[in-house]
Amino acid sequence: VEFVYKEHKIYNGKPKLEGLPATYVESGDEAQTLELVLEDTSINTRIVLLYTIYEAFPVIARSVRFECDSDEKITLLSAMSACVDLPDKDYEMIDLAGVWARERHVRRHKLDYGIQSIYSMRGCSSYQFNPFLALARENADEFQGQVYGFSLVYSGNFLAQTEVDNYDTARVLMGIHPNGFKWTLGKGESFQTPEMVMVYSEAGLNGMSQTFHKLYRTRLARGTWRDKVRPILINSWEAFYFDFDAPKLLGLADAAADLGMELFVLDDGWFGKRDNDWCALGDWEVNEEKIKGGLPALAERIHGLGLKFGLWVEPEMISEDSDLYREYPDWALKIPGRAMNRSRHQLNLDITRKEVRDHIMNQIFKVLDACKADYVKWDMNRSVDNVFSAALPKERQGEVYHRYVLAVYEMMESLVQRYPNLLFESCSGGGGRFDAGMLYYSPQIWCSDNTDAIDRLKIQYGTSFGYPVSAMGAHVSVCPNHQSGRITPFETRGTVASSGTFGYELDLMKMSEEDKKTAREQILKYKEIEHLVQSGDYYRLINPFENNNHVLWQFVSKDKKETVVCGVRLHSEANPYIYLFYPQGLDADLHYEDIATGKVYTGAALMKAGLPLPLTTGDYQPIRFTFKAVEK
Ligand code: DGJ
Repeated sequence: VEFVYKEHKIYNGKPKLEGLPATYVESGDEAQTLELVLEDTSINTRIVLLYTIYEAFPVIARSVRFECDSDEKITLLSAMSACVDLPDKDYEMIDLAGVWARERHVRRHKLDYGIQSIYSMRGCSSYQFNPFLALARENADEFQGQVYGFSLVYSGNFLAQTEVDNYDTARVLMGIHPNGFKWTLGKGESFQTPEMVMVYSEAGLNGMSQTFHKLYRTRLARGTWRDKVRPILINSWEAFYFDFDAPKLLGLADAAADLGMELFVLDDGWFGKRDNDWCALGDWEVNEEKIKGGLPALAERIHGLGLKFGLWVEPEMISEDSDLYREYPDWALKIPGRAMNRSRHQLNLDITRKEVRDHIMNQIFKVLDACKADYVKWDMNRSVDNVFSAALPKERQGEVYHRYVLAVYEMMESLVQRYPNLLFESCSGGGGRFDAGMLYYSPQIWCSDNTDAIDRLKIQYGTSFGYPVSAMGAHVSVCPNHQSGRITPFETRGTVASSGTFGYELDLMKMSEEDKKTAREQILKYKEIEHLVQSGDYYRLINPFENNNHVLWQFVSKDKKETVVCGVRLHSEANPYIYLFYPQGLDADLHYEDIATGKVYTGAALMKAGLPLPLTTGDYQPIRFTFKAVEK
């Protein structure tokens, strides 16, 4: 192709991207957009490059629209969202990598010649790599130095790479992964790429993250709950898994209300014959054997306890052992003549077909209407495979991966439009689809199936590179922990979980009186900081990937008059050193009282001279300091 400049326009505001999540503005003067039109006359095709700059954020949002005006069909083999050339290569590349239960661990390495890339070919953004990368100057740390952050607002296959050429320049490229992608355009049709968001920071990695946090929290997430403190929830999954009935659920709800929790979430297992994970996905009708009297009656009882009521669903999936599959076997994605690849014993529904989407969403809407649900958890427990849609001709199968993602977005949009007051949390077997695309629909995302407080330190630290804390679902669970077997103090579990969208996920009825007392106190303590978790400035202070004994982070209120430092001391030491910590983001001239001791320090003293961390005994001890501005 040979696209050359044709015309351009600059205007206030930012256009919506057809069918795709994207950052937005609330008034035209928040941002300006440049539309640059290039044309290749020999194939009668245009590309429109969209660049938006924000008044309040050091951000450029960029996407590309392909417009076909040719009588012959055009086939796109690659449609990346952005390509950025930097004049030198003296950066380190940071990305977030992992596996199930160990998501978004931070990796940092010096750029080398050639291509270094991260990607997903799993049909979702994946556990393995996140659609985020940063280039940091070698001397850049959490608080100073130049950093560029790149984030793709997309939830499917992606490629993100940096290429260093032999003239020592670096090129960043990001977009839908070209493998398995082939999109045909006829005359008058267009293709819109996802948006890539680029952030610049001279205040190191925290500076970059804070821009992502503010932008994504306020101009990517949407809806009633965007700016609201989220309810403290109790989730039934680790409490009962599939083994429950109505009395057990009501017992859990009762205990939750008694402890001060606010939202009851009925997780997997409430529908069809779902007593294990082999069956029933697609049969979105209540299992009356388990929940006698049905969901509306249960929800009414739970509402009667003063709790909100929420429900788990997994709309993109089908079990072979389901009424849905028996009736419509070709509604699953499967490649004709090939063996099917199952994962968690389930298949992906072919949601690229409108009749499939409509059928599933209508079933789910019926249930949500009937029980007046206040919250939905939308799960996705396997990646996309057997990628072939019976509804598309063979030569268009290269469209299925992207059509699948567009279908998810359309279904989620129908949910948020129909229930504007619903609190929506997305999830993918833990954090397998924790990305900016999802944040446009669900202001909170379940961070990981790993609820171990110590493992969560790394997961939540890594996630905070590109995503706000208010988006990270985090729960207190039982010990020994179900994923790691580790035993940690109840208070430490609370400290870690309350630095995200806070909840509990254990059988409260089996809790000791002492733990119940701690939980009550924890909930009250969380109430003191919930506004900071929701919209305060978040700082990473001590890195769990580098420091092997402390992890520390901090919230600062917008007016800088209040700050909370939280963390964990991992291991007890005999006759230990004194470790200092240095709060950030305070007003140097204000006086702050340490609420626990009554001692008063200037902001400058706290930030420059620091304070000693407590010398606790015993492993995995929680740390918490609260400082409030006082008159001198
Ligand atoms: C995976 C989720 O991450 C869990 O929280 C739980 O909802 C299960 N799926 C249910 O199958």
